[in-house]
Amino acid sequence: MSSSVERFDREAREEFGRHGRTVVHRGELLRHPVYTRVLHWSVAISFILALLSGFAIYSPWLYRWLTPLFGGGAMTRLLHPWFALVFTIAFFFQFLNWFRAMRWTEADRRWTRRLKAYVTNREKLEAPETGFFNGGQKLYFWTIVVSAVLFLITGILMWFDDVTPRWVVAVSYVVHDIAALIMLAGFIIHIYEGTAAQPGTFRSMIDGTVSRAWAWTHHPGWYADVTGRDPRKDYEDARERNERRQNTP
Ligand code: HEM
Repeated sequence: MSSSVERFDREAREEFGRHGRTVVHRGELLRHPVYTRVLHWSVAISFILALLSGFAIYSPWLYRWLTPLFGGGAMTRLLHPWFALVFTIAFFFQFLNWFRAMRWTEADRRWTRRLKAYVTNREKLEAPETGFFNGGQKLYFWTIVVSAVLFLITGILMWFDDVTPRWVVAVSYVVHDIAALIMLAGFIIHIYEGTAAQPGTFRSMIDGTVSRAWAWTHHPGWYADVTGRDPRKDYEDARERNERRQNTP
């Protein structure tokens, strides 16, 4: 199973790579190829559409102003499960694309113990063992996996409520809404981490690249793997160069 998924994923990357380009300049590293970026933005757009239409259905009293976006109340209700279905399918391929990189390791467990230092930006560099994704990113990914499964099951039960027992539909509403709230919280943190908290991250999902300095700062283990260099030493060298430049009259 694993090798056929790998083959599928490799062929998809090659196919998408033929249609889009990723230009890696000097001082940069390839982070996300075209295929990953297309999947990520398909997941993000369908998720946002499902979320907004879901809000309008959940509480028309508060969110009726959203329904004109989708062509009115009845249309919003009709479209919501289709947005959700696109999200589920896109995320399924994203899952195949990323699940190897998202395997939970001992290093991730140690990362969660340093969460406070991470949130308060106390350390200049992440721990040397931090690989392609850190523990927080992996937790977000697995939260989406669990939520997406819950969304799918409860969503189908609610969609076909004429053949589903009433109590099952009632429980499905509650589970669906709890999963949506968890996803919303994760989504807000995710946007903050992917933009304002770590400058230089957002472009990795636009042009596919990051600077070497970004890589040795946030993912030193990955930096060491792809460059064969020592992230701490490259960081110190860059810092000294900067200081010399600033002190030069
Ligand atoms: C719309 C605003 C969004 C922005 C600005 C954004 C930005 C990003 C960026 C820059 C990365 C790459 C991080 C890295 O390489 O280290 C990323 C990764 C990722 N994105 Fe998004 N994203 C958005 C929406 C979403 C949505 C809606 C989902 C899923 C529901 C999602 C799921 C993920 C996952 C699972 C990853 C990999 C793990 C992680 O970096 O947390 N993203 N995103």
